[in-house]
Order: sequence, then C-alpha cells, then structure tokens
Amino acid sequence: MFTIKNHLEKRNGHLIIGGVDTVDLVEEFGTPLYVTNEQRIRDNYRRYHQAFPEADLYYAAKANNNLTIMRILAQEGAGADVFSDGELYLALLAGIPREKILFNGNSKTDRELEMAVETGVRVSVDSLDELHTLSRIASSQKKTMDIALRVNPDVSPVTHPKISTGLKTSKFGIPHKEVVEAYKEAVELEGINPIGMHCHIGSQILDTSPFSETINRMMDLVEQVTRLGVELEFLDIGSGLGIPYKKGEVAPTPQDLSDIVLPIFRKRSQAIGVDIKLVIEPGRYLLGDTTILLTSVNTMKKAAKKFVGVDAGFNLLIRPAMYDSYHHVVVANKVAAPVSSIYTVVGPICETGDILAHDRELPAVEKDDIVAILDAGAYGFCMSSQYNGRPRCAEILVNEGKVDVIRKAENFDDLMAKQLVPARFL
Ligand code: LLP
Repeated sequence: MFTIKNHLEKRNGHLIIGGVDTVDLVEEFGTPLYVTNEQRIRDNYRRYHQAFPEADLYYAAKANNNLTIMRILAQEGAGADVFSDGELYLALLAGIPREKILFNGNSKTDRELEMAVETGVRVSVDSLDELHTLSRIASSQKKTMDIALRVNPDVSPVTHPKISTGLKTSKFGIPHKEVVEAYKEAVELEGINPIGMHCHIGSQILDTSPFSETINRMMDLVEQVTRLGVELEFLDIGSGLGIPYKKGEVAPTPQDLSDIVLPIFRKRSQAIGVDIKLVIEPGRYLLGDTTILLTSVNTMKKAAKKFVGVDAGFNLLIRPAMYDSYHHVVVANKVAAPVSSIYTVVGPICETGDILAHDRELPAVEKDDIVAILDAGAYGFCMSSQYNGRPRCAEILVNEGKVDVIRKAENFDDLMAKQLVPARFL
C-alpha cells in the first residue's frame, strides 16, 4: 500500500479509499459516484478540536449537507453554522443540539426567523433591519432570542474574490464602524438578548495573517461592546482555513491557526476581563479531502488538446467552472502507471467552461478508464444541479472496508419530480 494523498492509497495499481478498491465500487455502483471516507471526517474533526480544545466547532453545513455526514460530525460533538431553514432542518435532524446551532444569513425570510424563534436556536443577525424584524417576531411569541451581530470586519483575505466575505464592499454583516451603535440598539430591543459577536472573512485562505488581523479587530469590538455593559458569551470568528488542493501547495493547519488566534484571544480576553467562548465554523477543512468523485471516460479526442470526456461535469462539481479551482485528478484504475501525456479532462455539459482539469500529466488514458477527482467533499455534491437533464449521482460512504450508500442516484423521474403538466398539455 502506498499513499497517494492523505488517506488515499494505491493497491495493485488501483486507487483505494477507506480500505475499498475504487474499481470494485464502480463495478457495483457505476459512475459518476461520490465516495466519502468516514474515518477521514472523524480524523479531521479531532485534529481541529485538538488544536482548539476550549472552542466550540460549528460545522458549516453549506459545505456538505448529506445527513449521514452531518450525523458523523454530530457524533464527534460538532455544532452547526446553518444558512437557511433547510440547513437548520437538516442540522436538527442530524441530532445537533439547538444551543449549538447558529442561524446565519444575510437575507433571511420572516418565515426563517420564525423557525429560528420556534426552534430556539441562536441567530447571527446581519443587519439592523433584520434585528428589528426578529425583535417583532420574537416578542409576538413572547420569546427572547440569544443573538450575535454579524460584523463586516473589512479584512482582505488572499483568496478568490467570489469567496471573500469580509471585505468592506461585501454583502455580509454590519460595517465594523457601526457595530457598537448596533449593540446599543440591540440591548434596548424587546425579545433580543445580544450575547455573541460573529464574523467570517472568506474561504480557502492559505495565509494566517488575515486571521490575526481579524481576531485583533474583533477583540477591539468585544472591548468596546463590553464597556457598554453588554455581557458577551461567545465570539464566533467564522472559518476559512484552506486546504492544499495542488501538489506542493502548503496550507496552514488548525494548529497553525490556533497558534495565531489563541494567544491574542486569551491575552485580550484577560485584559478586558471577559470570559467568552470562542466559536469556529469550519467547513472545507473537515470535509474537503474526505471525498473523491469517480467518473468514467466516455470518449477520447485529440484536437487542439487531448481531451478526456468523462461522465461528470459541472453539474456535479461546479468549483473548477465557478472559481477556476484546481482539483487533482488521478486515473483510479492506473495509479501505478507512468505519466504518458498531457490531458484536459472535460465534462459532458454543453458549455465551454465545463472543464474539470486543465493540462494534466496522466498515464495513457483510454475509454472506460476511471478518473478520480480528489478533494471533492466540500462544496461538491451540495452545489450540484440537474443541468442538461442529468439526474444527480449516488453518494457512498466507506469506512475500513465497509461500504454504505448514503444517497441513491436520481433517475429520470427525479427530473420530473415536482413538475406539473396542466391538463391542456396532456
Ligand atoms: N461560516 C460562514 C459564515 C461562511 O459563510 C462559511 C463559508 C463558512 C463558515 C465555512 O467556511 P470554510 O471553512 O468552508 O472555508 N463554494 C465555495 C466556498 C463558499 C464559502 C461560503 N462560506 C467554494 O467551493 O470554494
């Protein structure tokens, strides 16, 4: 057994995940196929938890909302960052305790706020307008809601602009210069109990300096708000820790993040005289590298490039098309074969941008080979669609040689599932 990357191994020239041969998986379940290694989720969670033993980890449900996967994280002790009523529903169904759920969102419906009040979760309030709506809804139900205000800290992370969330111009949060005034208002409002402060600066961040800037800025605000007499119980600094998608790419570990954040957090908490809980909302780090997407080669073409036409496209993994993201690919049934040529792996979607991997060195690829797209566990399946009339594929969980189906593949009925045809078209 040789390691390919992290928990992925090779045996007899085949890619192995969670002790299971990917070629056998494809024989049994076909392709495309998402395959997740349960143990890797647990190991990632434990590594993060070890680096931040006193913090609460609220898993960012948007990264992967498969119920079994959320249950694994719930078993490990995770709370949840949810961004919609649907994610709240799933987090509760997964067994995550309501007091460890933070309902985020920059444009929540009144119905979503009502659900937050009914279920008694905490809410990260994104604007003054939302604060007033929540106050009205909570007081009409004679409830008091524990809330945080979402701060826009105006910190620039070095990452793709589409996944930067804490820039001054971003749509998220209350500008940091206006936040103290907002807390003054919050303490006066009926049905509102401001006990937290929240921010999130972006995702896939590979440098720790934006995090130290963020924690310092947030502790400045904690200090000012405490001076007002607000008793904060938690500070949620969001997430954003990147993972190495490319060979040779170096990403900070949770321990590196902790080495930057914790000394500042502890020192400043002590100086201010507060005892607050640190909350972090990891998504990508927990799930990203746990999962591969297996896809079969339908057709080969030599044109301006050597194109490998596979059966998964941006309908199933949109990250390369949407953010020019790099995902490493290997030929799962030929992992021991030498590099033969440079190939571009493309999906079956009728869009020029449907390219999964540009100009990669791969062994000689032929029809019916199996390509594995690595690191597809975060923002993979959950961002999929049925575009081009393609039912979504199955999801499989593997663990030390055991195999479970955790989502059945869709079929043509699912393309029609919610459509209604008026009688005059029958
Ligand atoms: N907390 C909040 C409030 C967030 O908005 C996010 C991600 C997270 C936590 C989790 O961040 P992470 O640990 O995963 O970096 N679809 C994009 C990523 C969008 C991230 C949105 N917010 C991608 O595929 O790269």
